[in-house]
Amino acid sequence: MNAQFRPPLRRSGPLARLIRPLVKPDVFDFWASRVHRTWTWERPLARLVARETASVDAVTLLFKPNRHWAGHRAGQHVNLGVDIDGVRVTRSYSLTAPSRADGLLPVTIKAIEGGRVSRHLCRDARIGDIVELGHAFGEMTLPASPEGSFLLLAAGSGITPLMALVRELAGQGMPVDVTLLYWVRRRDEACFLDELRAFAGAHPRFRLRLMLTREAAASADEAEGRIGDALLSAHGGELAAQQVMACGPGGFVEAARGLLASRVTAFHAEAFTAPPVAVVDEGEIDIRLQRSGRTLRVARGTSLLEALEAQGLRPPSGCRMGICNTCACGKSAGSTRHLPSGELVHEPTQALKLCIHSAATDLELDL
Ligand SMILES: Cc1cc2nc3c(=O)[nH]c(=O)nc-3n(C[C@H](O)[C@H](O)[C@H](O)COP(=O)(O)OP(=O)(O)OC[C@H]3O[C@@H](n4cnc5c(N)ncnc54)[C@H](O)[C@@H]3O)c2cc1C
Ligand code: FES
Repeated sequence: MNAQFRPPLRRSGPLARLIRPLVKPDVFDFWASRVHRTWTWERPLARLVARETASVDAVTLLFKPNRHWAGHRAGQHVNLGVDIDGVRVTRSYSLTAPSRADGLLPVTIKAIEGGRVSRHLCRDARIGDIVELGHAFGEMTLPASPEGSFLLLAAGSGITPLMALVRELAGQGMPVDVTLLYWVRRRDEACFLDELRAFAGAHPRFRLRLMLTREAAASADEAEGRIGDALLSAHGGELAAQQVMACGPGGFVEAARGLLASRVTAFHAEAFTAPPVAVVDEGEIDIRLQRSGRTLRVARGTSLLEALEAQGLRPPSGCRMGICNTCACGKSAGSTRHLPSGELVHEPTQALKLCIHSAATDLELDL
């Protein structure tokens, strides 16, 4: 797969370069926002300009970014910072289309029971609302000239980055064989279904299977059952030849990895939630925060991000999955545990991802 896309840094104009040393970005943003709500010195912001129902429990929101948005590739995600009850909360969402001619950014958000940001965006977000944007990130993108055949596996909201890839390939006339297996519990939870079926009708090289786990299949492009060997063999084409991309909850992605990674040509996956992690470290340790001079006592078994948030701190964060790098900070002393693998990390580092490491011993962090 491609190396991570780094959006080009936007060059500022001669006037901006000239006055840069004299400007405090926060102060500029404060006064500029009084004239226009998305004017900033350099921060990417976006305004919600349209919303539409995507399924029984999901909405599609279209955002118009300001001039500091540096672009994205199909398959990438962005951190959205949303103000809820006066507090800025950040979550990652996938862009569901390649760059559009109108410059708008589409995201499709599934309302999670008890979810803070997803419920706010699905129910309460209004046209004109402003969100903060991070830069695009993620490596599940297509090569410049795709070849061979692709098997796309989506579960629930994991369809979103894969939809961007399907739209990109459809825009190129579907130059490769693509099979999309899309798992939902019930048909009315599926997003983009009409468009996907239209692609299947228009492009003989694109095949769609809607995989239902709590409803009976009712048409030729539907099947029933959870991800497993039999379903993949029946619907996934010639597996050994497939380049697989999988996206969905952590449990789904890990199941796909276990079933396919060693049998296919290439396997790439991104998870929206962490797979369950067995707590191996118990008790509490001290974290010394070098910049603030504070020392906090936190639990050893949870991620450092959650442990610090439980103490009322708000370290920058985004995906909470180790993908976007927003939470990375320096560690000058102590050992941490990499939660996905369980491995201990003893060396000092400039870039400890707080969301996927827990404390194994007392620590010193550059916070
Ligand atoms: C790279 C990336 C891209 C993503 N793209 C999208 C996208 O395009 N569309 C989309 O709807 N979501 C997407 N997500 C998930 C999204 O970032 C949030 O995790 C999700 O919206 C829930 O946030 P919340 O604040 O509502 O829930 P929180 O308040 O954070 O959590 C509430 C509860 O819901 C659980 N939970 C959190 N996320 C999920 C989930 N996805 N499924 C089931 N349970 C969950 C939590 O474990 C917790 O118990 C993406 C995540 C990542 C890491
Ligand atoms: S919040 Fe994205 S890497 Fe930690």
